[in-house]
Amino acid sequence: MHFRFCRDVVVFALLDSFLTRIKWPSTTTGMRKVVLSAGVSLDGYIARPDGAVDFLFMPRDYSMADFFATIDTAIMGRKTLEVGLRMGGGSLPRSNMPRYVFSNSQPAGERDGVIFVNESPVSFIDRLRQRGGKDIWLMGGGELARAFLNADLVDRLYLGVVPVLLGEGIPLFPSGFPQRDFMLMENKTYSEGLIALTYERSSTRRRRKS
Ligand SMILES: NC(=O)c1ccc[n+]([C@@H]2O[C@H](COP(=O)([O-])OP(=O)(O)OC[C@H]3O[C@@H](n4cnc5c(N)ncnc54)[C@H](OP(=O)(O)O)[C@@H]3O)[C@@H](O)[C@H]2O)c1
Repeated sequence: MHFRFCRDVVVFALLDSFLTRIKWPSTTTGMRKVVLSAGVSLDGYIARPDGAVDFLFMPRDYSMADFFATIDTAIMGRKTLEVGLRMGGGSLPRSNMPRYVFSNSQPAGERDGVIFVNESPVSFIDRLRQRGGKDIWLMGGGELARAFLNADLVDRLYLGVVPVLLGEGIPLFPSGFPQRDFMLMENKTYSEGLIALTYERSSTRRRRKS
């Protein structure tokens, strides 16, 4: 049976009911990582041109539980919030997890279950890291991912790749950031062709051979 990946990744519905039942450890050692995680087509799209994510799926043998156990904060772009609201019928489910929404067009501050942020990603992440906690889920979309990649703030990628070429859509990695290098840490294959890839930021820069 399929159920839509977007329900985990965009609407938070499954995430919220799951998170409220987890007993979080009170402290976490090491620096909190920023993890860009999304479901993506083979050609790198996170949504169709109209924002639809109907092509994403989660097979029965795949679970995001291990990932959710590592994060306690979510960050998204304003357009991702809008899609989440649309899919949730105008609201997001209640959550114990802080959900930050980056926007230059909305006033900063907390309302309707999210916290709007209007500051540089660098100073924002610095502040979150000083507070301590688990890893930070950068949900996307692509525009916000680009801002974080520009600032070299993405420590890890955790991608669910589905076997479809959309041909057009909203890219996870829109152009406009410098080369960033990653090391493949894990590559797991699930039924129906879903692949879960984990990459960590690499300090070694790969050069093109001339
Ligand atoms: N497949 C998945 O797992 C997945 C995950 C997430 C999202 N999505 C999809 O991705 C689509 C949205 O992605 P997107 O790339 O179009 O948009 P997005 O990144 O979600 O949102 C872009 C908006 O975020 C704000 N923003 C971006 N960078 C900022 C910065 N540095 N400072 C302040 N605000 C900043 C701006 O809001 P203002 O215009 O208000 O200034 C900008 O217009 C949706 O269709 C959603 O469904 C899919």
